[in-house]
Amino acid sequence: MLATSSSSSSSTAISLHPLTNYNASATPSLNPSSLSFSSSYSYLSPLSFRLHSSKTHLRITPKKGLRVSCSTNEPLKVMISGAPASGKGTQCELIVQKFGLVHISTGDLLRAEVSSGTEIGNKAKEFMNSGRLVPDEIVTAMVTVRLSRQDAKEKGWLLDGYPRSFAQAQSLEELNIRPDIYIVLDVPDEILIDRCVGRRLDPVTGKIYHLKNFPPESEEIKARLVTRADDTEEKVKSRLEIYKQNAAAISSTYSSITNKIDGNRPKEMIFKDIDSLLSQLLKDKTVKSVKPVLQTGSRLDQASSNQEKWRGIPTRLNNIPHSREIRNYFYDDVLQATQRAVNDGRTRLKVEINIPELNPEMDVYRIGTLMELVRVIALSFADDGKRVKVCVQGSMGEGALAGMPLQLAGTRKILEFMDWGNYGAMGTFIKIGSIGAKEVDEEDDMFILVAPQNAVGNCIIDDLRGMTDAAGKRPVILINPRLKDLPGSSGIMQTMGRDKRLEYAASFESCYFFRLLYYAGTQYPIMGAIRMTYPYDYELYKRVDEPSGKEKYFSLSTFKERPTIDEINDAFLGKPRNKDKKASGIWGFLSGVF
Ligand code: AP5
Repeated sequence: MLATSSSSSSSTAISLHPLTNYNASATPSLNPSSLSFSSSYSYLSPLSFRLHSSKTHLRITPKKGLRVSCSTNEPLKVMISGAPASGKGTQCELIVQKFGLVHISTGDLLRAEVSSGTEIGNKAKEFMNSGRLVPDEIVTAMVTVRLSRQDAKEKGWLLDGYPRSFAQAQSLEELNIRPDIYIVLDVPDEILIDRCVGRRLDPVTGKIYHLKNFPPESEEIKARLVTRADDTEEKVKSRLEIYKQNAAAISSTYSSITNKIDGNRPKEMIFKDIDSLLSQLLKDKTVKSVKPVLQTGSRLDQASSNQEKWRGIPTRLNNIPHSREIRNYFYDDVLQATQRAVNDGRTRLKVEINIPELNPEMDVYRIGTLMELVRVIALSFADDGKRVKVCVQGSMGEGALAGMPLQLAGTRKILEFMDWGNYGAMGTFIKIGSIGAKEVDEEDDMFILVAPQNAVGNCIIDDLRGMTDAAGKRPVILINPRLKDLPGSSGIMQTMGRDKRLEYAASFESCYFFRLLYYAGTQYPIMGAIRMTYPYDYELYKRVDEPSGKEKYFSLSTFKERPTIDEINDAFLGKPRNKDKKASGIWGFLSGVF
């Protein structure tokens, strides 16, 4: 029996810290509360909001072939890496003193969350105390939020302890966040253990000491020093092991900018090397940055001309992370379909793309891939002179149920921080908003809604409906919506107006659908795929392994409507099509909505 990789479990809600609660529909400002950060640390002070005046900007259609050149003194962007206790924190203190960069240490941020007893801290604690890595979605959202602050943009940044896995490195790559230099401190294992066990921290100044190497200056300081919970010999060994497992994969991302430094020397000598590297970089950075934008026609033009050049489903889709080529393939595929539908005057559209990296039910789900997809679509329509509003729902509900789906945590901030090109699209042709009637401005031409979804006890549909009513005939495109009602903890569904809500959810027309097929209950091997791109039929593909070791998809059948599981099974078994079978109707259809 085959199964589609549909999602069934409910979304997790992260509740908001009361100090950061905000009314998403009332202001176009940033949403600092997609994660419940505590308010007592510097990165939580009021965020600098980018306000887009909806009334004032001019309507300018970007010219095709436009080139924008600029000359700026860009600040330094530095990553420092190394095994536990290799001296990253110690060197960061010195780097900050000399270069004034904003020091972002994931270890420090997480420890701050733990000591404040926030929800994130409570989640992170058990991982940190056992020397394991904290889950990527927590750390990545935290880092991207911090990197997006104005001070980091202006002064430059020094990222310490991130990325710590290949997936984290890829998340940054997808957001076009790349350092100028990747410094790796190299220290032998036996030294590291001694450094950890002897390390002490001053909770007042944040200074790092070592009982032997860098003893505290006075008895008073000595008396207040604390030891980190993960600085026991046993935990250090486990942290070291995890570091080694990940180091090579991360380095491969930054191989061209890696500088390995001998960290087993006095700290001043180490800093001398780092100092000369960074000083040289600063000199080199009197920048001549010329970025070609929209050189030979927009991506939309390419989309239309590529329409007939489809080259088949990419192979090795279970190999994660997906290569850039595979991601680009899907971005283009979605773009072409969306473009055709909008050009045909369709206004209520949905894109459902369920490759492993875009399936929130799989461990390999990557928010960066979703963001990249959204950026490709939005920029392409903007290239064609449309004003696009990219919308992410804000926090929903009240009291204990207040929060937003985990899948969307930090999304709005990530969108705002992304590189939207050098020709000023952001703020004019692209705006970031929330979901709701108030978000619809007169000058908006279309709306892209990022994974709108219900959370337990909270329904997004009323806000969605308000928004589509206000949008009128302007296109609204839902990217990977999840509009099924979710049962509460007692297993009870929201019943009030449920039929109406489901009917509304079904009123969005599919303009793109892609889903891999697996045997029921498994995610390996891939058996096939279903693909639909507007205005064509649903195509069912079977995957086969070739003797050469390669794999291939071949077309089994096509369907006017999305095929049911029975129809898929029959096609795989080679049974003739039951022509009398009726379409499954609204309820069957909705069970397939994400
Ligand atoms: P984190 O705090 O980043 O720990 P770490 O990487 O293990 O590094 P350390 O802080 O232990 O050491 P360091 O290199 O900064 O050395 P220091 O300068 O203090 O992360 C902690 C935990 O948070 C992780 O285990 C994980 O659970 C979680 N986490 C963090 N980031 C994450 C992410 N991205 N994803 C998932 N989870 C994440 O120096 C050490 C000692 O040596 C000091 O006593 C110092 O005085 C001494 N010393 C320094 N330099 C010298 C020298 N040259 N000679 C002699 N002694 C020296």
